[in-house]
Formats: sequence, C-alpha cells, structure tokens
Amino acid sequence: MSHKKFEDVPFAFFTVSKDGKVKYANFQAELLMDEMSAFGIRRFGEFLLGKINGDNLVFKTPRGTYGIKVINSRKDYEFFVIALDEFNQPLGDIMDISSLQHEIKNPLTVIDGTAQIIAAKAKNEYIEKCAGIIQKESGRIKSILGNIHMLSEMTVTFDEVDLESFINELRDSIKIVYSKIEVRFRVLRNLTVIRADREKLFMALSNILKNACEAQGEGDIEVEVSIDPTIKYMDKEMDRACSMLRIVISDSGPGMDEQVMERLFTPFFTTKNRGTGLGLIIAKEAIDKHHGRIEVNSVKGKGTDFLVYIPSRIHPASGRQN
Ligand SMILES: Nc1ncnc2c1ncn2[C@@H]1O[C@H](COP(=O)(O)OP(=O)(O)OP(=O)(O)O)[C@@H](O)[C@H]1O
Ligand SMILES: [Mg+2]
Repeated sequence: MSHKKFEDVPFAFFTVSKDGKVKYANFQAELLMDEMSAFGIRRFGEFLLGKINGDNLVFKTPRGTYGIKVINSRKDYEFFVIALDEFNQPLGDIMDISSLQHEIKNPLTVIDGTAQIIAAKAKNEYIEKCAGIIQKESGRIKSILGNIHMLSEMTVTFDEVDLESFINELRDSIKIVYSKIEVRFRVLRNLTVIRADREKLFMALSNILKNACEAQGEGDIEVEVSIDPTIKYMDKEMDRACSMLRIVISDSGPGMDEQVMERLFTPFFTTKNRGTGLGLIIAKEAIDKHHGRIEVNSVKGKGTDFLVYIPSRIHPASGRQN
C-alpha cells in the first residue's frame, strides 16, 4: 500500500510492524515521535503496540490528547494517530477560568474562616488539629486554583536579566526550603546576561529544581548554564538565527521509570503525597512561551537531568555574548 497520500495530512500516520518497529511515519508522525522522545519514549512503535494490546487507545502529551485508530492489521499494523481537537484547545477557551476561580474561592474563604473560628474555640486538641487540617487543605486548593489561573493566562515580557543575581536569588530561595541541599551552578562561556522573562524563567527553573531537591533529599545538585551552538532558533524580531541557552539541572535521586516519564507533563500527575502535579506543566508553559523546550533524561536508580533550552537572544553587538 502506498503511503504517499498520507504525507501531508493533518494527523500522524504510522505503519508499525508486529514486532514494534515503525516502518513508515508521515510528517506529523515524525513530529509526534520527536515530541515523545524528549520524554524518554524512544521506541514509539512498541509504545503504540502496548497501548493497543492494553486496549488503551488514548494517550496524552503536553501538546494534547491523542486517540489511536487501527485501520489495518492484516500483515502489518497500521495506525491512525489523530489529535482530538476538542482536547487540544487551551483550557481557557473551554471555560472561563477567572469566573470558575471566583466561584470556588468564595466558599473556600468561608470554609477557611469557619475552620479558624473552630480552631480558636476548640476545647480539645483533636478538634483543633482537625480544624488545622481543613485550613491547610483549603490553602492547597487555593494554590491549585492560583496555578491553573496562571497557566491559563501566562504571558511573557522579555528583558535583559543579570545572570549572577538571578542565580543567587534562585539558590537562596531553594536553600530556605531545602536546607540539606546545595545547588551548585556552573556558568560556561562567560555568560553574564540573558534575555528572558525573569519571573517566568525563575518559576520554571524553581519548579524543576524543587523536584530535583525532593527526589534527592540531600547533597549537591548541579546546574550548568551554557550555550548550545548546534541548535539554532530563527529570531524573527532580530532577523537572525540565534543559538540556544541551555540549562541542565542534574540530580542523583532515584530517577524515573517509563510509566512516570510518560505522564510527567500530564496535569495533576504526581507521585507525591502533597504534590499538585502542576509544577512541570507550569515550567513547560513558561519555557514554551520563551520559544524553548524541555528535555528529560532519567536513569532509574541513578538520577535525572532536566535540560531547558531557550533562544539566546542577546545581540552579539552588545559585546556581551551570543
Ligand atoms: N527530578 C525528578 N526525579 C524523580 N521524579 C521526578 C523528578 N521531577 C519530577 N518527577 C516526577 O514527576 C512528577 C510530577 O512533577 P510535578 O513537578 O509536575 O508535580 P509534583 O512535584 O508532584 O507536585 P508539585 O510540583 O505541585 O509539588 C512528580 O510527582 C515525580 O514523580
Ligand atoms: Mg513539582
């Protein structure tokens, strides 16, 4: 069967042999495989077969939700993998996040206030403890709402960011919470200034660093900041191709298995008792807005590297760096 007619269709099309090898992938399929390999799923054919054999025909990536459709399984398996548009819409287009937030916050404030009164008037420790739990959990809901709101309305404003003060602030903010961790930054290529949205980049790196600290518990976490000259970004504003700034955050925690890697950027996915499962989604949204990307390499039992790339948009004429 000729696959030429599938070359430019707006969905991913694959032919996969029964032993899990991808025999044909159209343009959209290549994009999808690139996206998945950034999350450690390099044998995409085997991944698809696993889904089909487990009768699990829907999977998610940070870009959207995909449905798998088998269109021919006589000699080879042939798959449609089609993006389900309704799932791909930004959350903000489906519902008005601000009003939803408002509707939930109002009763939450009442719950929190009432719990405070109960705690103040409690005649025994147990009641006081229960009221404390209600307050803590309603605080958690508030922070989830805040994160969802931020995700739905994230905008970036680029400015020149002094790298040294940025790094110091990041290191200090981590140290306050994770006192047994030392974050060691290594800055290569004489970088002194980067162009970014300071607050959003801080938030992204801070979320990744927090995960590294929580995974490792104590000791050193390495962060290397450099320029990757091999990857270029076409900066239309500056009308030139620029290199990518690369920030690698390495921990020697327990690493992740494939099941966790697969769901890493799924909203609310967490393996932690008190996690919201939004940290990495926020990091990804912030880096996407910088026209960058995040890659993850993890080895179970050894540790994890998060690689953050953003275009290095400082003009060489500024005399500072590329
Ligand atoms: N460096 C890491 N090492 C091991 N597992 C990690 C690492 N980073 C992320 N993970 C896994 O990815 C999951 C999702 O991370 P994410 O930051 O999105 O949410 P969370 O950390 O669980 O919650 P929150 O960020 O709200 O505290 C984590 O629960 C953890 O299982
Ligand atoms: Mg986290």
